[in-house]
Amino acid sequence: ILRDEVKNILEPFQLSEDQLRRVMANLNTEMTNGLKSNDHTDKNDLAMFPTYVHYGPNGQETGEYLVVDLGGSNFRVSHVIIEGRNRLRLNNKIFLIPHSLLLGEGEKLFDYIAECLQRFIDDNKLALSKSSDYKFDLAFTFSFPCNQTSLRQATLVSWTKGFSCTGVVGNDVVLLLQQAIDRRKGLKVQVVALVNDTVGTLMACNSIYRDCKAGVILGTGINACYFENLDNVLKWKDEQNQTAKQVVINTEWGALGKNGCLDFIRTTIDRELDSSSSTPQQQIFEKMISALYLGEIVRLIIIELVQRSILWPGRMHKTPSLRSDYNIFLILRGSFYAKHVADIECDTTEDLSVTSSILTSIGIHNPTYDDCYIIREVCKTVSLRAAKLTAAAIAVLINRLNQPSVTVGIDGTLFRHHEKFKKNLTRTLNRLVPRTHRLVLSEDGSSKGSALVAAVDRRTKETTA
Ligand code: BG6
Ligand code: GLC
Repeated sequence: ILRDEVKNILEPFQLSEDQLRRVMANLNTEMTNGLKSNDHTDKNDLAMFPTYVHYGPNGQETGEYLVVDLGGSNFRVSHVIIEGRNRLRLNNKIFLIPHSLLLGEGEKLFDYIAECLQRFIDDNKLALSKSSDYKFDLAFTFSFPCNQTSLRQATLVSWTKGFSCTGVVGNDVVLLLQQAIDRRKGLKVQVVALVNDTVGTLMACNSIYRDCKAGVILGTGINACYFENLDNVLKWKDEQNQTAKQVVINTEWGALGKNGCLDFIRTTIDRELDSSSSTPQQQIFEKMISALYLGEIVRLIIIELVQRSILWPGRMHKTPSLRSDYNIFLILRGSFYAKHVADIECDTTEDLSVTSSILTSIGIHNPTYDDCYIIREVCKTVSLRAAKLTAAAIAVLINRLNQPSVTVGIDGTLFRHHEKFKKNLTRTLNRLVPRTHRLVLSEDGSSKGSALVAAVDRRTKETTA
């Protein structure tokens, strides 16, 4: 039985339908404002970047592409061969990026990416059958807010998700990657497209489901993109493309709340998480939902419960010392993961042994049944809030698309591996939008989809040439 004090702490995390509908209205307004002007640095919450992707694949795309995919929990290099509708072969490899590279000089990060590319080409003997002047076309899946001025020009506006390399913000990341490639003699690759992970996900899914007009990522970060009518994109100024009627908009909706529109549901824990993060006042919505932050929200609530002597009373070390694992958990930001939240939330054992062994594995030895019960409640509450907020956001997308039926392509660890989250998301969404819709997991979406972006670009150029 939950003590009143626990209930009081968790209460602000429980969102009513009215609150969710207010989140929907605010997100919708911010999306509309973002389409009007480029003033996303201060006035608007959402950047709503036009991506220069105007068409989905029509099945006539062909070609061979390399893809590098940076920004999720894995850094990947892929080789994709496209031979028309539903005929796409993909071979990929995950490379580990040393954490120091994510926080150091940008040039070193891009040199490392080029090095991995070289290794991938050599290991798979991809260059063997090519003539000496052959250049591979490469699509760069780069999952950060970029202001694009063409498919191959993209200025990084800010880092998100804990990345913070120097010398990249304000610069064209396509150029930075191309320069790193060109620094490696013998690496013959040209970057032909810059693609956000949401856009890759949308394109991969759209190649299968014609009514798929939106791509969503629910992972380390959260974001969405969708096909918008150019008439609604008041800031659109691309004279080159007179024929296109639509453009894919990268919403960057993780930034919602920057100017206060989520203050009515933010808790003191959300504020604490934000102010102790490396990016205060940014990515407010993302910090309430994404896998990078879910565990941290739970950890902060646990600390509050410990400080109030509700959890493991009497066992709190008076002087925190880094020698005790137990205190390391309490002291170290980011030491509780979204995976822990997912596993604890699904613990249906009678003695809560799953929860107990997870807590033991992170240094909290011999937790009592009551401790485990309370912590499972915390995980359930935080995860349910994230799922409800995601449902509210996807509901806005579905309403804006205004089609008889909508398929939304989704990728990312939260949707892929967090069963309960997915169930709660689906249930809430059904309540918020009566319109016919389905959520589809987009397998390898970003890599396949980015190659498809490059292929569609090649096809449309060939047909207009
Ligand atoms: C992957 C994509 O499938 O999903 C990545 O290839 C993307 O580009 C990712 O960022 C999101 O998931 P996560 O959970 O790894 O951040
Ligand atoms: C962050 C990035 C965004 C990306 C998302 C999912 O929100 O800013 O570009 O799409 O994470 O990876």
